[in-house]
Amino acid sequence: MSKTAQQTDPNLNALVLENIDRGVIAMGHKGDITLINPAGESYLGLSARHCLGKDFRALFAGQETLLYLIRIALDEGRTISDDEGLMLNRPKQPPMPVSIYAAPIFSRHAGQDGAVLIIRDLSRVRELENSLRRADRLSILGTLAGGLAHEIKNPLGGVKGAAQLLTMELPEESPLREYTQVMVREVERINNIIEELMDLGNPRPIQQEEVNLIKVLNDILLLQKEAARGRHISFTLAADPSIPSLLGDEGLLTRLFLNLVKNAVEAIDDEGAIVVEAKVSSDFHVSNPGEKRPSPMVIVKIRDNGNGIPADELERIFTPYFTTKIKGSGLGLTICQKIVEDHRGLLNIVSTPEEGTKITVSLPFR
Ligand SMILES: Nc1ncnc2c1ncn2[C@@H]1O[C@H](COP(=O)(O)OP(=O)(O)O)[C@@H](O)[C@H]1O
Ligand SMILES: [Mg+2]
Repeated sequence: MSKTAQQTDPNLNALVLENIDRGVIAMGHKGDITLINPAGESYLGLSARHCLGKDFRALFAGQETLLYLIRIALDEGRTISDDEGLMLNRPKQPPMPVSIYAAPIFSRHAGQDGAVLIIRDLSRVRELENSLRRADRLSILGTLAGGLAHEIKNPLGGVKGAAQLLTMELPEESPLREYTQVMVREVERINNIIEELMDLGNPRPIQQEEVNLIKVLNDILLLQKEAARGRHISFTLAADPSIPSLLGDEGLLTRLFLNLVKNAVEAIDDEGAIVVEAKVSSDFHVSNPGEKRPSPMVIVKIRDNGNGIPADELERIFTPYFTTKIKGSGLGLTICQKIVEDHRGLLNIVSTPEEGTKITVSLPFR
């Protein structure tokens, strides 16, 4: 050690505080806020001007756990943390899941001088956890449903065959033919649902082919635009054309995005807009087992300004058969979740009633 007394540039300290993604809030020995960094301001939803000089007890009024943690650090001089998922209440925004670390500050000369609070935003972590939990639940349901579907398919084939035979037995002009045709048609409808279900239960191995995602998205939008002709819905694809191809199953990925875009169309009453965005994520990576370097992901966002999803329904939309539509199967999102999972990706949804829905699909390129 040659330069033991070397001091860090105070400007650098300030820059680091400004740029880290942790909320840092310091307070003096009486509990008055002496510092809050930009992340802290954004997490609390309050400006530094509002916070500085305020007593922490006023700032965090009603948030008992948080107050307790600060008191331990400030009054007892101990370090304490809570990683269990505290909810931080904010004045104008929904509560945010956070982890908290509180520690006494020791000045160079005069013992303890206040405390510091470090806040970490756990929203993203919680989102990932939710997505994983859903995937778990799905795999059990998928196995059950897939097995059941298999059992139903054979007798169904019998019913359809019999109805077809009956049709042939009836004279051309018989009014009874209408009924047998209904039978055949409805059996076919059940069959489609069952096939979707079987995909969920015992999926065929996914193909590993080079998929040009932009082309897939473009084709889907083109078709949907055509299907929605006469309605006032605008379709926009905002994608960087240089996005490289990704390794996956083109059929399944088409089904995934088609389902999502269809849902968006169905959420719009008279007029609205659907925007599909695709870009390479710069800040989100996934590591493949055995690989050192994490591979970047492509992020596809599907936004609509349709009628949105009420909070109490949001939890259930991935449940098989949950639908709010008269002719819905309620399997679309279940299948989407499954396809995303098979591609080692993530699916997230944010929705506000009356404002619309945003679905984010992140997929690794390889
Ligand atoms: N973009 C969206 N906007 C509003 N609601 C949606 C959207 N996507 C899905 N939903 C809701 O989730 C439910 C389940 O969707 P899904 O699994 O695709 O089944 P289905 O479309 O057959 O109803 C829908 O019935 C609807 O209530
Ligand atoms: Mg659907």
